[in-house]
Amino acid sequence: MSGVGITARGVSMRLPDGRAILRDVGLEIHSGEVHSILGLSGSGKTTLLKCIGALLRPTSGTICIGDEDIAAMDETALNRIRRRIGFVFQYAALFDSMTVFENIAFGIRQHRTVAERHIPEVVRQRLHEVNLEGVEEQYPSELSGGMRKRVGMARALAMDPDILCYDEPTSGLDPVIGRAIDDLIVATRDARGVTSVVVSHDIGAALRISNRMTMIDDGAVVMTGLPEEFLQAADPRVCRFMEEIAPLRTGYETPDLRSAQTLRAGP
Ligand SMILES: Nc1ncnc2c1ncn2[C@@H]1O[C@H](COP(=O)(O)OP(=O)(O)O)[C@@H](O)[C@H]1O
Ligand SMILES: [Mg+2]
Repeated sequence: MSGVGITARGVSMRLPDGRAILRDVGLEIHSGEVHSILGLSGSGKTTLLKCIGALLRPTSGTICIGDEDIAAMDETALNRIRRRIGFVFQYAALFDSMTVFENIAFGIRQHRTVAERHIPEVVRQRLHEVNLEGVEEQYPSELSGGMRKRVGMARALAMDPDILCYDEPTSGLDPVIGRAIDDLIVATRDARGVTSVVVSHDIGAALRISNRMTMIDDGAVVMTGLPEEFLQAADPRVCRFMEEIAPLRTGYETPDLRSAQTLRAGP
């Protein structure tokens, strides 16, 4: 079982014009948990995820992955850390001119973590993990949105990461397919013990799959807590978010907390 914790302290991100996208963010993500980062569009979720995942350097603050402070690292050390972090980007972001096989093998080939002759078996196993078989020679344009998302997950899993970062993993998918992807996120955590950070504006899904959640608003943390603490929150910003967003979601239903408990019985 892998998985590693992440601690952010005083993380701010300012644009050259002085505007702050992240403001003094403090956040603790436990090893092996599904942690959702919630917020309205434009609140800074993707920027925070990229800072946590070592793709962006904040203008101030510290981010520790395990016991290593990535803010202080040079590019060589950062690249070593980046190999331990898988990203599932919004809308999957596959390379359209490459087959599924080439997409999944891309990182392995770049970092030469597996001998070329073993790559087909690794690709097959990762596809199996996301419940796909025999699509290696297809191109992303030949797949459905849900299948593309699974391929994106298989690609992120190719390097056996300790941390998986998902940016809006179900956006653009219909609710049934979205739910299957949510379940796969939980199954992947269970099977691998991987720390999973999920950016979302889907409060219903977050309540169902998260061990803990953090809400941000205008680049600042509003609340971190258990799903049941969010349901009982008195903070007006949390209440407003839950009220405004929940009914807008297609196919929204009141989360069944019993099934949520079963799903979340992870670490
Ligand atoms: N590289 C950038 N340059 C200028 N503005 C940016 C940049 N990245 C993000 N922003 C702005 O920062 C805010 C937060 O963006 P983002 O992190 O993408 O939010 P979210 O993912 O919650 O929608 C938005 O107002 C966005 O326009
Ligand atoms: Mg975003």
